[in-house]
Amino acid sequence: DVGDPRHGDLAGRTVVVSAGGTREPIDPVRFIGNRSSGRQGAALAEAARARGADVTLVAANLDAAVCAAALAAGVVVVPVETTAELRDAVRAAAAASDVVVMAAAVADFRPTDVPDAKIKKVPGAGPDPIALVENPDVLAELAADRLRPGQLVVGFAAETGDADGSVLDHGRRKARRKGADLLAVNAVGAGRGFGAPTNAVTVLDGQGDVVAEASGTKRAVADAIWDAVAKTLPAI
Ligand code: CTP
Ligand code: CA
Repeated sequence: DVGDPRHGDLAGRTVVVSAGGTREPIDPVRFIGNRSSGRQGAALAEAARARGADVTLVAANLDAAVCAAALAAGVVVVPVETTAELRDAVRAAAAASDVVVMAAAVADFRPTDVPDAKIKKVPGAGPDPIALVENPDVLAELAADRLRPGQLVVGFAAETGDADGSVLDHGRRKARRKGADLLAVNAVGAGRGFGAPTNAVTVLDGQGDVVAEASGTKRAVADAIWDAVAKTLPAI
């Protein structure tokens, strides 16, 4: 029965996928965030479930409807807000996972000090600068730590390309820097990637060599990424 997830090519595997965008509080009512909708990550979670995996989705500020759809598909959903919460939830699930996919857009920096009370403006005095501190690199840590022996670690890279190189140039450098087994590179900005219904990714290995290319619906891209993962996983 191909409709039964127990017979899919990921049956017997446990995976964790992070999705969405982390938010870093500035004060009790404000945050620093990003435009990630979490739809590519949610599609990865649902696709893995449909292929038989036990799936945990660490959902950073995902739309309620996106979470509900993942739950209905049989995915365990762990909602988080900040990078610290996401890191704890991903690492807890990763300890029992064969594959970790970091599809979340993680805030690179967070405000250094978060006051308990709302920051008030002093009319005419102008804003105080917000001091920031760098967040831990959750993906690089997971790649270095390998919380379960033989675990496969997959990252994403959202790139625009700039004077220092194309989308793929930046992706290759990131693949070598992160230590992950696979890196799915996608072009973002101007209606591409974040928030869009479709996506296009190039999957690189840890050396930066292209192992797969996929475009189409986020679900189709998700299945192409799982195809690349399935090829790399050790046999059960
Ligand atoms: N990532 C992470 N922890 C961070 C920043 C990023 O785990 N603090 C992960 C993302 O989930 C993604 C990958 O690293 O899987 C690449 O994220 P990206 O923002 O493209 O790369 P950075 O290393 O943050 O570099 P930059 O933003 O400067 O391009
Ligand atoms: Ca970043």
